[in-house]
Amino acid sequence: MLLDNKVAIVTGSAIGIGRAIAVAFAEEGADVALLDIDSANNAETAALVRAKGRRALPLDCDMAEKGQVRRAVADVASQLGRIDVLVNNAAVYINCALTHGDFSTQTANYERSIAICALGSFYAAMAAVPFMKAAGGGNIINLATEHVDMDHLMTTSPATGYDAAKFAQWRQTEAWALELMPLGIRVNAVCPGATDTPMLRAVSVPTAERGMKAEDVALAVMNILRQGPDGPTGRSYLIGPSKSAMSPEGTTGRKDAEAILNAK
Ligand SMILES: NC(=O)c1ccc[n+]([C@@H]2O[C@H](COP(=O)([O-])OP(=O)(O)OC[C@H]3O[C@@H](n4cnc5c(N)ncnc54)[C@H](O)[C@@H]3O)[C@@H](O)[C@H]2O)c1
Repeated sequence: MLLDNKVAIVTGSAIGIGRAIAVAFAEEGADVALLDIDSANNAETAALVRAKGRRALPLDCDMAEKGQVRRAVADVASQLGRIDVLVNNAAVYINCALTHGDFSTQTANYERSIAICALGSFYAAMAAVPFMKAAGGGNIINLATEHVDMDHLMTTSPATGYDAAKFAQWRQTEAWALELMPLGIRVNAVCPGATDTPMLRAVSVPTAERGMKAEDVALAVMNILRQGPDGPTGRSYLIGPSKSAMSPEGTTGRKDAEAILNAK
């Protein structure tokens, strides 16, 4: 199988897209480390990974806390033996509007949005790259969003901290790809549109129902890995933009995820 004897880390693995990615990795033979703050749901993800016959290592880890991230990544290497893949998936979509709430709430929301997603991705990559280097290469995949796509029309989303963090992840993808190319570490991003997960259901159930499945996003991630060590690096793949979910034909998510396999 594609990921036999490989070890992958998925952040934000307890529910939604992170869980789907963890299960897809296990189906392809990987042992999977699961970093999340939601221990109860993360234990369920671990059970799903084990049901595929692979090792699961669920770890309580707040991605906003660099000491916790550093310790968790070191634990993965010592307990599972190596690190080949890092998926920076954890994020929160919370209200950061300037005209909503009070100063301390809104600034805390903004700081947390950035800390979990933009800083958390950096902490995890910083901690994991030495182990990937030791393994002779690897893959980092950042879960960005369609919001970073050039064609995306900005809406009145109040989650400005979320968007700022996603633009940071997007730039990190390109910069890290160039920096890490000599080490055989590829860095790419998946930029999903509406996907039916608890995050989107909290915003709009009808939109979530028209969106793609978390498994479609997992397929996109898997197809980046299937491109092989000489596959493209520094790319951001837009899949299932929300405008396709709103069209009568329905979301293009699955088709876009499948197309990644042949991307040059
Ligand atoms: N659902 C969508 O429509 C959509 C669209 C575009 C991009 N995305 C991106 O996909 C990724 C997954 O989104 P989702 O929809 O599955 O979200 P979700 O809210 O359903 O799941 C997010 C997971 O992250 C975990 N998490 C939150 N804060 C954390 C922290 N401090 N430390 C560790 N883990 C933490 C949560 O516990 C949860 O398990 C996110 O990066 C999101 O921005 C989602």
